[in-house]
Amino acid sequence: MNDPFSAKLSRRNLFRFGAAGLAGAGAFSAFHYVRGRTSASAPMAASGVEDARFEGLREQLGRYILLTPQKLGGGTHAVDLATQKTLAWISYWNYGDSCPISHHLAAFPADSGDPYKGFEFVNTTQGGDNVLMYGLRTRIRENGMLGQAGQGNHIYRVGYDGKTGQMELLEDIAETTGIGLGVHTVPFPDGTGIACGDGQKDIVAFFSRARGEEKTKVLNAFRADWQPKADDLGSTWMKGGRIVLTRLSPSLDLGRYDLQGTTGNKINFEMAPMAELRVERGQIPGNDPRGLTGLDFCLHDPGHRFSLMGLRMCGGGFIIDRKNWEPVCFIQANEGLQDNFPLKKISNSPDTWVVDLPSVGNPIHESGFHPNGGFLCMMNNLRANNVAVFDTSDPDPRKWKRVTFVKDPEWQGEFPSPFHLNYSIDGTKCFFTVLRPKPMRSDVVVVDTRSWKIIKKFRNIGVDAQTTCTTYDGKYAIVIFSGFQRMESGAFVFRQDTLEQVGYMPNFGGHHDCVIVPSTVEQLKYSRSCTV
Ligand code: CU
Ligand code: CU
Repeated sequence: MNDPFSAKLSRRNLFRFGAAGLAGAGAFSAFHYVRGRTSASAPMAASGVEDARFEGLREQLGRYILLTPQKLGGGTHAVDLATQKTLAWISYWNYGDSCPISHHLAAFPADSGDPYKGFEFVNTTQGGDNVLMYGLRTRIRENGMLGQAGQGNHIYRVGYDGKTGQMELLEDIAETTGIGLGVHTVPFPDGTGIACGDGQKDIVAFFSRARGEEKTKVLNAFRADWQPKADDLGSTWMKGGRIVLTRLSPSLDLGRYDLQGTTGNKINFEMAPMAELRVERGQIPGNDPRGLTGLDFCLHDPGHRFSLMGLRMCGGGFIIDRKNWEPVCFIQANEGLQDNFPLKKISNSPDTWVVDLPSVGNPIHESGFHPNGGFLCMMNNLRANNVAVFDTSDPDPRKWKRVTFVKDPEWQGEFPSPFHLNYSIDGTKCFFTVLRPKPMRSDVVVVDTRSWKIIKKFRNIGVDAQTTCTTYDGKYAIVIFSGFQRMESGAFVFRQDTLEQVGYMPNFGGHHDCVIVPSTVEQLKYSRSCTV
């Protein structure tokens, strides 16, 4: 973090946040805290550290619907925040899926503007050996449930109908298109489509948004493969190599792809959070672990044009231009390494691009564009333990540069580790869950998006805290947590504005995600379009 950059950042931000920014510039630390009852006299900096208080909700959260997938619970439920009732739920084994692992989801804005009248969401599921990685004494394999119906990688499109009060499965996008992907699911900020990824296959596909009886179409799909320089598994990524990005074409009749279920998996089960190094240690078997790039997410800049396809194993990701579906460059989050790499196109049939990396410092994972534009955060994990912040204000992504890193003296070694992120509705804060290994409870830190310094910590929230979602009135942030299996789970609520704790809500499941159903297209960029 050098000074010229800090100076540049604050000037830019003053412009971006306007007069309020100017007024708060010098005395910014005082600004939040004056509004917070519990810490009115506390100075800013990292001194705002609070243990979570294990109490029920102390405020009414308003009319919002919280969607939470249950991972090994096999379904998803919608909670009405106004009444604290479960509004509706769905369970995928009822539809013949013998091993549904309800993983990530995202909701489209309600067409009527009122999610209580109805809305649709897209829910990826894992399956296959992913059920075997939690130490369950399960007979699911012997019982044949991991056969074709349990291979997973379904992409379910589900509707909630306010008239009937029911959820219904509308489509399995994996079946329609032949592309089965089980991880992050991220709608475009204009609501016209959705990107899904899978880090066992290293594939990201972009889908159109189907409505009603319509079926989903593939807009484009890419696979990223790694060609290591080193011969040994242990140095496969660290010693550098070549990333080959290929545009995929349908190979089956009716324009379908041959990528359902476990077809195309390079590793037999996913890299759990912070488990990337297990691949180079030979602990995650599969057909092609050395070819792995870990392409498990694709998220979008709020300007509706560029998307970032994140390669966990390669420390960065490709920027794709959704106007022409051409990749633009590769950005790298690792400290000390070049931050932006040009691409070479080496074939037109199929379209193939390469980027050569001299080395990889550490894996990356969760990332997120600031909803007002201008910045992108990307987690550096394991060998490093910090958050890279890119300035993305240039209209040309080839000019995007890292400007600083969010660091914390506690983030030493592999844990505690910054994890999923989301931004406050007013854009002044970024919320990071900070993962600690179970049975320890995870934390949440609040980062000021002008200084990129931590201004508050909530400690000891719950086991495996995952994503945060924010109510669109700017009032509340909800952190979903769960032991991935058989442990405590629930939702921790705090104020986005004053950063006061509001309490806990019960929420059942081994969550990996949560989202509040948006009412408008504009709300998508705060929902799941720009962050994972
Ligand atoms: Cu995940
Ligand atoms: Cu991921």
